[in-house]
Amino acid sequence: MSDAEVKYGLAGVVADDTAVSKVMPETNSLTYRGYAVEDLATKCRWDEVAYLIWNKELPTRAQLAAFQQREKNERGISADMLKLIGMLNPKAHPMDALRTCVSFLGQADPTAEDSSPKGLYDKSLRMFAQIPEIVAADFRVRNGKAPIGATKDLGFCENFFHMCFGKVPSPEIVKCFDISMTLYAEHSFNASTFTARTIASSLSDVYSAVTGAIGSLKGPLHGGANEAVMHLLKEVGSASNAEAWMMDALAKKKNIMGFGHRVYKKGDSRVPTMTDAFKKMVDVIGTAEAREYWEISRILDATMVREKGIYPNLDFPTGPAYYLMGFDIPIFTPIFVISRITGWTAHVMEQRAANKLVRPLSNYVGVPQRDVVPIEMR
Ligand code: COA
Repeated sequence: MSDAEVKYGLAGVVADDTAVSKVMPETNSLTYRGYAVEDLATKCRWDEVAYLIWNKELPTRAQLAAFQQREKNERGISADMLKLIGMLNPKAHPMDALRTCVSFLGQADPTAEDSSPKGLYDKSLRMFAQIPEIVAADFRVRNGKAPIGATKDLGFCENFFHMCFGKVPSPEIVKCFDISMTLYAEHSFNASTFTARTIASSLSDVYSAVTGAIGSLKGPLHGGANEAVMHLLKEVGSASNAEAWMMDALAKKKNIMGFGHRVYKKGDSRVPTMTDAFKKMVDVIGTAEAREYWEISRILDATMVREKGIYPNLDFPTGPAYYLMGFDIPIFTPIFVISRITGWTAHVMEQRAANKLVRPLSNYVGVPQRDVVPIEMR
């Protein structure tokens, strides 16, 4: 095989069919089940979108109410899970903790191997309902606080805030979080989704697929970028320093987190919606710190586009938005998981419905074939 045939990073390779979402690089746009993501983010609640991703159609009011009730019924992590969270290394990254906990969920489920359509749907909904509580409990334990259990009186996003902080913020802040959930939910064959599909393709169980996907999402070139963006904004420190910081970073050929995309080369259609939500939240919070991060991000964005023609990706506005909501930086990527669990599991369902083992070829570049010399002669 010649080098020319190798598609490094699988760039440009179409690996399978999907009806979950469509990425259109020519218009920098994205649809879930045929609906523009920015339309979904502004016109629907997050749980409507989660329903859509799994059920292929937006719910009626009655379907949404039944779905919300099912999700609420699945809330409540086990005492063993809480014990496990208490035993985890507090210095480990929260994504490592979450990966361990999802794996633990799998081994605790006696029906883990049931990958029938109903089995996959039930397990996906259970992970959807329980992952937020795992993330929140781990967040509190790390901060020396007792976990707050899920409550069935609150909606999905409100419940997550309550489990993290013991209170629910203003509707504008909850809406900003809700929008981020919709925008993060699904993105075709990105690294973590492809990882989930690859694991499912060997007929392994859905918990294994999600555990692997979490490992993939953790990397800073993928989901971990939202954390890296916030570290970067803190390093820049002030709006007056932002342009000079960017010019210096570009001169040093640094990889600037939150910019660029493997597929979108002229901007990402999710970014304006998230940036608007972030701005509304900044106005509601109204602190000097919030306004400063807004100004820094505007200047970095404009300078990068002017100098390199490289546009921000979704992680650029979500990083500071989550920070201003009060979340610790290392739980930004676990928050991404709270949303992306929908897309991953929809892909696992799709993969299992028309399965073909994922098994690409490789271009061998090692030493030519040779004879083994017995150890006594070496
Ligand atoms: N900062 C600085 N330069 C960047 C850049 C960034 N964030 N993203 C791309 N570039 C540069 C590349 O270095 C390359 O320069 P070169 O032509 O001089 O080698 C050029 O732009 C084209 O890069 P491209 O081929 O479009 O990037 P890619 O498809 O290989 O990589 C990413 C895509 C996402 C991995 C890359 O943009 C990146 O590392 N971004 C930062 C991490 C991030 O935000 N990830 C979240 C993605 S949603």
